[in-house]
Amino acid sequence: MARKIIIDTDPGIDDAMAIFFAFQASQLEVLGLTTTFGNVSVDLATQNAITLTEIAKVNVPVAKGVAVPSKIAPRPHPDFVHGADGFGNIDWPAPKGKAIEKSAAQFIVDTVREFPGEVTIIALGPLGNLAKALELDPEVANLVDEVVLMGGTAIEYGNVSPVAEANIMNDPHAADLVFTAAWQVTMIGLDVTHQVLLDNSVLERIKKANPTEGGFLYDCAQHYINFYSSRFDMDGCYFHDASTIAYVMDPSIFGVELGAVRVACEGIGIGQTIFAPQGMTFPEPHWNDVPMTQVCMEVDSKKLLALFETTLS
Ligand code: RIB
Ligand code: CA
Repeated sequence: MARKIIIDTDPGIDDAMAIFFAFQASQLEVLGLTTTFGNVSVDLATQNAITLTEIAKVNVPVAKGVAVPSKIAPRPHPDFVHGADGFGNIDWPAPKGKAIEKSAAQFIVDTVREFPGEVTIIALGPLGNLAKALELDPEVANLVDEVVLMGGTAIEYGNVSPVAEANIMNDPHAADLVFTAAWQVTMIGLDVTHQVLLDNSVLERIKKANPTEGGFLYDCAQHYINFYSSRFDMDGCYFHDASTIAYVMDPSIFGVELGAVRVACEGIGIGQTIFAPQGMTFPEPHWNDVPMTQVCMEVDSKKLLALFETTLS
């Protein structure tokens, strides 16, 4: 039976790669997309999520979520990475469809209650919707199969500060609630996503094999690859979010370490995911009695890229 998933997202070019990846994967059943601010405003994220369902001709609900962080002031959207439109400034026409009435948090709660123990939440942006779902119905933490999130970093440098990754930095308070709730969390952070380089040779082969989704991703990715090649002299880009889909399809692609994760919510270290490996104790009590998170530290990059290419082709 296909694994039921909800994708919480701020599309976003690598979000688009992840969402098309999930739509094409026969092992997965996407029950809906929930949207958040992050790469773009939540209104544009919602419009972009609907666009992706229409391009892929997949009829799943899109529920609009949080517009701002739960406590900190909003940070500017990184249009230098994803473009002002979130799709690399390709001026794609507005979608025909509309979001459902229900909020993202309410959709998450209702869907998890409809399928207790069966739903995996895949989070690709800031974590405000997941925090709101916990606030709406704390029991949800015991009814979710797993939370698999792209975010954070344990020992790799951050991408918005030396210690902080963008999704966590965009709402550190929500992230800390997610990492300390009773559900099973798997963190797919920069420790692994910075080991996987997606280049145009892969995107060109996917475009040839699948002109619809592949053509769209190829066009979006040029702005994204230009950012990475100009800023980091890379011949390609990190496709962070797609790693979560590869994980739920084949966890053996990743090596995990167990430990407690807490998030710094103030000071110059704000947004840092601070990882205390299982079995290590410290005089500071913040990591005591915190559920174990599976933190991905190794990845078989070749296997991940091959799974992405074959699934999308
Ligand atoms: O740091 C990378 C993450 O931030 C990805 O999810 C990307 O889409 C942005 O949301
Ligand atoms: Ca994202």
